[in-house]
Amino acid sequence: MIRRLLPVAFALALSAPTFAGTQADLLSGLVADAAREGTPVAPSAARGESFFKTRRAEWSCASCHTADPRQDGRHAVTGKSIRPMAPSAEPTRLTDRAKTDKWFHRNCRDVVGRPCSLAEQADVVAYLMSLK
Ligand code: HEC
Repeated sequence: MIRRLLPVAFALALSAPTFAGTQADLLSGLVADAAREGTPVAPSAARGESFFKTRRAEWSCASCHTADPRQDGRHAVTGKSIRPMAPSAEPTRLTDRAKTDKWFHRNCRDVVGRPCSLAEQADVVAYLMSLK
């Protein structure tokens, strides 16, 4: 019986959703990754804010997420509403590293034209966490 159930348990474990942690977990994960890559970072909310609001070729992060990420955003192209980015307004934000990685990847490519560094990501996360 146990033997027959083991593969089932294994398959369930593999298909389980990614573990959701806290924003602090996510930030310390980024810091740990940067240290491992030999580029240690000290996250700065002030740098993160300026990164978030700086307009590049076409857009800034604020183009879709607004200059006050505690507010609902609006997609600059599709007009679709986007829930707030600040965890104080939307507690599920920045709790799932896989999801956050995916969107950093996509949005940084669109806005900055390259992937964001771990330092830039840590600054933005520190900024969003600082908004009360
Ligand atoms: C063209 C519109 C657009 C721009 C510009 C944009 N984003 Fe986003 N972003 C989105 C959408 C759409 C989502 C996913 C929808 C959602 O999660 O509500 C998202 C989600 C995210 C998330 C996921 C947060 C989480 O954990 O739930 C992060 C982080 C993020 N964006 C950061 C950025 C940063 C940093 C920039 C600037 C480099 C940026 N975005 C620019 C549209 C945009």
